[in-house]
Amino acid sequence: MVSFAFIFHLLGFGLITTSLAAGWILERRIRTTNDWNQKLLLLSASRSIGLLSPIASLLMLITGIVNIINVFGTSPRVLFSVGWLDAKIILFAFMLVNGAVFGPILSRKRTKLIQSLAAQSAPADAEETVNIYGKNISTFYFVQSLLLLIILFLSVWGTGKHVGMM
Ligand code: HEM
Repeated sequence: MVSFAFIFHLLGFGLITTSLAAGWILERRIRTTNDWNQKLLLLSASRSIGLLSPIASLLMLITGIVNIINVFGTSPRVLFSVGWLDAKIILFAFMLVNGAVFGPILSRKRTKLIQSLAAQSAPADAEETVNIYGKNISTFYFVQSLLLLIILFLSVWGTGKHVGMM
């Protein structure tokens, strides 16, 4: 039997990877471009791509729960006996909070400052603050990517799973 939940789980993983990779690439362009209006254009593209991540996260959560039921049944005891799954759910929760709270806060604050810089109504130290936000946002992408890689590793690494030399 084919599990549709599993197929959609993998599609969701693809979506998360895409939104993270595209967001990070755009972030690098935002930081290296000198023109404030161009930065604003890139920011709006980045925001559209960022909107993929809540959809993908919800998909991962729903299909993940169905996966658990398919593979382990409905007994809550599974949560106390499958180590990789526990670790994965905890890291997923970190990723979710990070992505829902810290990323958007940093991004919103920086966009406001860049808007005022483009309109030439910014406070004196605005450019420096924009650079600091930029560094924090890059750290955010690094942490999210690291969490995603650890979650992937936990998911696929197990005895007899996906064997092969390469
Ligand atoms: C960013 C989040 C997630 C990623 C990247 C991810 C990735 C994956 C991948 C790649 C697999 C396939 C593993 C394999 O075939 O060996 C998998 C399987 C699985 N995932 Fe996730 N997952 C995520 C979130 C979740 C969540 C939140 C849950 C539970 C609530 C979950 C539960 C499961 C289960 C039970 C399986 C085993 C399914 C099976 O073997 O049929 N996942 N996940």
